[in-house]
Amino acid sequence: MSDVKLAVIYYSSTGTNYQMAQWAAEGARETGAEVKILKVPETAPEAAIAQNPAWKAHLEATKDVPEVTLEDLEWADAIIFSVPTRFGNVPSQLKSFLDTTGGLWFQGKLANKVVSAMSSANNPHGGQEQTILQLYTTMYHWGAIVAAPGYTDQSAFTSGGNPYGNSVTVDQEGNMQEDVEVAIKHQAKRTAQVAQAVKQGLKG
Ligand SMILES: Cc1cc2nc3c(=O)[nH]c(=O)nc-3n(C[C@H](O)[C@H](O)[C@H](O)COP(=O)(O)O)c2cc1C
Repeated sequence: MSDVKLAVIYYSSTGTNYQMAQWAAEGARETGAEVKILKVPETAPEAAIAQNPAWKAHLEATKDVPEVTLEDLEWADAIIFSVPTRFGNVPSQLKSFLDTTGGLWFQGKLANKVVSAMSSANNPHGGQEQTILQLYTTMYHWGAIVAAPGYTDQSAFTSGGNPYGNSVTVDQEGNMQEDVEVAIKHQAKRTAQVAQAVKQGLKG
């Protein structure tokens, strides 16, 4: 029986990464982990959101999803991030949140978190891998342990095969172009299992 606490932290403007977060949560729960889905607070000006009906609708549809806090980071043994690419990097909304973690980092409270990341973009070569790697750079500064999926499951070969973390191409209407559900569930299970091993190991 798992005693891992796992936070799935996502940012999404139009729903793709929210769906990916839900699949990750399902996968992690299958290991017995205690799972929370948490959204990164929206920081974009209302005028920008109002210009995009899909963004406005998604914000409204997810208004009851709890926003991530620093306490959630302390609580979690494992964290799975899911964010869309923004010019090959993480969205500013996530960066703003990450930039509030200095205090926890200073106290050593982010060390040994087991982390994994996912992403999406409009183009297959539009920055999916790069976005995940940019996020992992911050994770190395935390002293976190990155549990990338690699090619540890057959699902990697039918989902686009991003070894750094699952990612999906999404068209302008929001349709995912690759079938990533099974691969995401595998990534989540693996993250929870690595976290269990680390947690056990650290207890000595
Ligand atoms: C400011 C901005 C920058 C973006 N940059 C890229 C990019 O560099 N490459 C790309 O393929 N898609 C890019 N996109 C498309 C988003 O990645 C896409 O809308 C997102 O993956 C959808 O995820 P969501 O439904 O969870 O919001 C960008 C979108 C925005 C708004």
